[in-house]
Amino acid sequence: LRGKYLEQIGAAPDADALETVRLAALGKKGEISLKMRELGQMSAEERLIAGPALNALKTEVDAALKARKAALEDAALDARLKSEWLDVTLPGRPRPMGTIHPISQVMDELTAIFADMGFAVAEGPQIESDWYNFDALNIAPEHPSRQEMDTFYLHRAAGDNRPPHVLRTHTSPVQIRAMQAQGAPIRVIAPGRVYRMDMDQTHTPMFHQVEGLAIDRDISMAQLKWTLEEFCRAFFEVDEVELRFRASHFPFTEPSAEVDIRCSWEGGQLKIGEGKDWLEILGSGMVHPHVLRAGGINPDEWQGFAFGMGIDRIAMLKYGIPDLRAFFESDLRWLRHYGFTS
Ligand code: PHE
Repeated sequence: LRGKYLEQIGAAPDADALETVRLAALGKKGEISLKMRELGQMSAEERLIAGPALNALKTEVDAALKARKAALEDAALDARLKSEWLDVTLPGRPRPMGTIHPISQVMDELTAIFADMGFAVAEGPQIESDWYNFDALNIAPEHPSRQEMDTFYLHRAAGDNRPPHVLRTHTSPVQIRAMQAQGAPIRVIAPGRVYRMDMDQTHTPMFHQVEGLAIDRDISMAQLKWTLEEFCRAFFEVDEVELRFRASHFPFTEPSAEVDIRCSWEGGQLKIGEGKDWLEILGSGMVHPHVLRAGGINPDEWQGFAFGMGIDRIAMLKYGIPDLRAFFESDLRWLRHYGFTS
């Protein structure tokens, strides 16, 4: 019996065959099981001999079954590993990869720089009512800047009584929304898309601005200057920057200043930070009391500075991109050249 089963177990080619052997030997009606049942009818002396022998046989056959099962499983695994192997030394197949658009890159950079100075990001809609885009910013209905900005007005059908809406011409309406939403004090920047009817090498009908707004009890122009200098140092990655504030006019700030940065153009190569040239980079000023009031903030208690800067423009300056229009042409060669891989 022992020889027969051990041989059958050793020869079982797979798990099914092994199970058949197990049933024949140790199953309910298996040969060894039946023999063990017969012990009951034996005399005491017979049982004393046959009992331990049968038990030992059962244990041995059981162990042989388990060992064979494990061996079969190992063999199956080996076979699978051989058929499914992977050559990790083969070179990878390159996949086409996108790049991060310079505008997105610059938005991330400036958001991080202003975040370090305590500015949160605020947002507003690109389709804006003319109240937010103009009136609340102290731009009167007949004010020339409504034309200067070459505004895109949204068409209203006859009988549509909703207030006129525009594609926002600047990010300044987000100032009003931030004031209304959070009250004073405020420190926010608002990067986003803006629209004006204009198209040449330095103008596209859609472009990007970042607005800055700081409101507190004693905000001053000196803080505006420091904030902008710190930003330019970090953004253009230069140790020293020099900014020139030129008196200007915006309806929503008083006083107002346009800000130039010192630079040089040597051999057509722009260098920020030193040189004898100046480059205009933004508009700014102290928030006009009318604007604070439109935002629900008391101008007798609070004051603040605001600025607006062209993102496309500073991206062109930092990364030496010559033509603004190329930003929006989705030319893959251009995107690969000027885009960023993260
Ligand atoms: N909104 C102005 C523009 O688009 C920029 C600006 C913002 C100026 C905030 C002053 C203060 O030109």
